[in-house]
Amino acid sequence: MELLEHLKQLGVEERLSVLISKLADACADISCVVEAGKMCDKAGTCNTFGEEQLALDVASDRLISSVLDKCEDVAVYASEELEEEVKTGHDAQDNFGVAYDPLDGSSLVNVNLAVGSIFGIYKCDSFIGKKGDDQECAMIAIYGPRTTIVCATKAGVHEYTFCDSKFNLTKENLQIEKEGKTFAPGNLRACLYNPGYRNLFNYWLDNQYTLRYSGGMVPDINHILLKGKGLFTYPGYKDMPDGKLRLLYECAPMAYIVEHAGGRATDGKIRLLEKAIESLSQRTPIFIGSETEVMTAEEMLK
Ligand code: AHG
Ligand code: MN
Ligand code: MN
Repeated sequence: MELLEHLKQLGVEERLSVLISKLADACADISCVVEAGKMCDKAGTCNTFGEEQLALDVASDRLISSVLDKCEDVAVYASEELEEEVKTGHDAQDNFGVAYDPLDGSSLVNVNLAVGSIFGIYKCDSFIGKKGDDQECAMIAIYGPRTTIVCATKAGVHEYTFCDSKFNLTKENLQIEKEGKTFAPGNLRACLYNPGYRNLFNYWLDNQYTLRYSGGMVPDINHILLKGKGLFTYPGYKDMPDGKLRLLYECAPMAYIVEHAGGRATDGKIRLLEKAIESLSQRTPIFIGSETEVMTAEEMLK
């Protein structure tokens, strides 16, 4: 069953369903650019975080922003690649706000590892002061051997696969078990300064956990969603107390998806979805996945 038809069957609001479907189309276009492998060079510019942009980051951002600029149901959008939120001029009441990371893990593209896009959809005309809990939908696209989308709304978390120019439902109602001995340990550099994280790492080794880490948060969390277990971590340390990953563009959408699949997502103390978005560039540590595994991590990092 096709994406739009399935969302309709689930009872998802029509305007939201159409927006999701338009974003999915933009992801299909991004997957073509990723596959072509022609834009892996540096664009010669930096994003607002001071990170060097690839031509591909910029192209992916434009493919999404041009869809959002035209969409009458979208009042505002914000992108990891843009400095400020963009008001579209379509500011009718109840219009949507879309926050996105157009291409997460773009440094993995030139070695042909999987990358992805991340979206959080709100009803708002600014993201400042919102919380992840205010999202109406969160979605990731994975550009791997196949192009897939995992879309979460109040009506559950479902996977769609791109084939014959359409996204078709491939897995319904993804669920994450409470326990699962699979770990994706981001920022292991933190072990040098944070004995709790080193102890946690040793706990995983001592208990024969399976390592599943690609260096891309989207495929790593997609792995947890599709296998239905495991955890992903990215703590901060000394000079980077909040780590690297961004609340609005990366962590809040991931937390929405994982919680709707029955998992847990915190910054080590607080539920990520309860953290207020104070600035577009706000970073946060993240512990996400199977509930018990995340709680063990929180306990050991106290
Ligand atoms: P970016 O948004 O700059 O593409 O970064 C990718 C993220 C995430 O996908 C991954 O888990 C993490 O960065 C890896 O970070 P390190 O480079 O610190 O290992
Ligand atoms: Mn990113
Ligand atoms: Mn990015």
